[in-house]
Amino acid sequence: MRTICLPAPGHEPLAQRLANLLTVEQGSVDTRRFPDGETYLRIASDVKNAQVVVCASLAAPDGQLASLIFLAQTARELGALSVGLVAPYLAYMRQDIRFKPGEAVSARLFAGLLSDTFDWLLTVDPHLHRIAALADVFRIPATRVPAAPFIASWIRTNIPSPVIIGPDVESEQWVREISSLADAPCLVLEKRRLGDHEVVVQGTLPDLSGKTPVLIDDIISSGQTMANTARLLLAAGASPPVCVAVHALFAPGATDALRMAGAARVVTCNTVQHATNAIDVLPGIAAELPAILKGIATTY
Ligand code: R5P
Repeated sequence: MRTICLPAPGHEPLAQRLANLLTVEQGSVDTRRFPDGETYLRIASDVKNAQVVVCASLAAPDGQLASLIFLAQTARELGALSVGLVAPYLAYMRQDIRFKPGEAVSARLFAGLLSDTFDWLLTVDPHLHRIAALADVFRIPATRVPAAPFIASWIRTNIPSPVIIGPDVESEQWVREISSLADAPCLVLEKRRLGDHEVVVQGTLPDLSGKTPVLIDDIISSGQTMANTARLLLAAGASPPVCVAVHALFAPGATDALRMAGAARVVTCNTVQHATNAIDVLPGIAAELPAILKGIATTY
């Protein structure tokens, strides 16, 4: 059965890399904005009777939604057998409850929208905290690829005497797994979020002399979680920390915040294209895809 990787606009490098790793065809999609800002989209490859893998990392998702839906639906209209989504970063998962009355629970709504649009989803380390599993919010087969083995391998190769440190309980799942895989000690601190750009990180620190602190979190957005953790460590006499995150969202000001807080180095996985990408997790995605495509093929 023919498989074709189709890039959503702006995600051509992702589609090309996955197509190469899977040794399948890379499709091409023409898009532009009409003068009024609406989206023009044309699938320039033959998708009839093919299994289509749409490739799109979903940082800054709102501007991508129309083209994502148009792409999936057009592929179906042109005869694709199935249309799945590889989204190395899955947006909106942190808004997972109604924190204040009247709020949208965006994680559930966004998952519902993607479930209406695609036959399956594959992502890397979604922010699962109050929602325990992707199956709790997706009505389609949804697979999580863990970044921990790739991060642990990078730490083993690059960091002498690492201590793995999580800023908050939400990071604990990654911290424990990476600590075990990298054979390094770990500790988890406490964080209170006071606002989008304001967090307080606290905790009791052991003697870290002679060690390299490695801060681990799933996401760097404003950078304040990592920056405040770095400040806490430096104030306690630790060496400047290496900050490692899965998803490099980097809202405006994040890079400066981390530099000013005294981070020795900032390193991320390539789930969102960014200058800090140093850990390649795409082989993990490519390893999962054949089984997903085989499973979907049995449903035709
Ligand atoms: C939330 O709990 C996540 O795990 C991250 O800690 C958070 O998204 C980081 O955000 P920021 O960089 O804005 O502090």
